[in-house]
Amino acid sequence: MTIPRAITIDGPAGSGKSTLGASLATALGFVYFDTGVMYRALTLAVIEGGIDPTDAAAVTVCAERISIGIHPPTVADGRQYTITIDGRDVTWAIRDQRVEGAVSSAAGHPPVRVILRAQQREIGMRGEVVMVGRDIGSIVLPEAPLKIYLDVSIAERAHRRVVELTARGESVDHDALAASIKNRDERDAHVMQPAPDAVHINGDTQSPADTLSYVLSLVPMGMRLHA
Ligand code: DC
Repeated sequence: MTIPRAITIDGPAGSGKSTLGASLATALGFVYFDTGVMYRALTLAVIEGGIDPTDAAAVTVCAERISIGIHPPTVADGRQYTITIDGRDVTWAIRDQRVEGAVSSAAGHPPVRVILRAQQREIGMRGEVVMVGRDIGSIVLPEAPLKIYLDVSIAERAHRRVVELTARGESVDHDALAASIKNRDERDAHVMQPAPDAVHINGDTQSPADTLSYVLSLVPMGMRLHA
């Protein structure tokens, strides 16, 4: 069995897995790959194509037809990567509210997941990658030598979001935010599959910097490029 130099990070929305994944990839000189962008890009194509996101057959045809590209940033506007659908830059469009509302439905169809997971696995098996998602350590790349499951309570995620939005001058209601995070967890529950052998980290009790140091301490020597 080929063992890819890959680290997987799974966890719910807003748990800080993207921040952890990106900083871990930078520290190791690996590629950072957020698999959620693939489900988001597909969902955008579904919406633009006038397809009902709950229509499994139609969403599957769409997933077969489109080509989702993940590239290094092509514009210096704060993006971590450039995402394309058939060559068209959709990096910011996949973050809009329409996508947010439909992605859990579009992502949940088993045949759709078969298609996107195969593409994710191909990238993962190239190695030198930190892959972030919901089912990466369990299904997409079970051979990865280090698997993390990062969880943070709803109350703490809501608190962090309040701090972030308040710093931007936006007024926010903690309870409304907590309710929307809970709702999002419930909608994503059917796609969440932590690996049985993942290292569980509770982000409530340590800062993102401490979490990064801890995960770095778990990276086997043989996986480091510059060991
Ligand atoms: O991590 P995110 O919020 O960008 O994910 C967007 C959606 O994609 C979310 O509804 C869960 C889904 N997703 C998934 O089903 N499997 C993954 N490996 C990653 C994300």
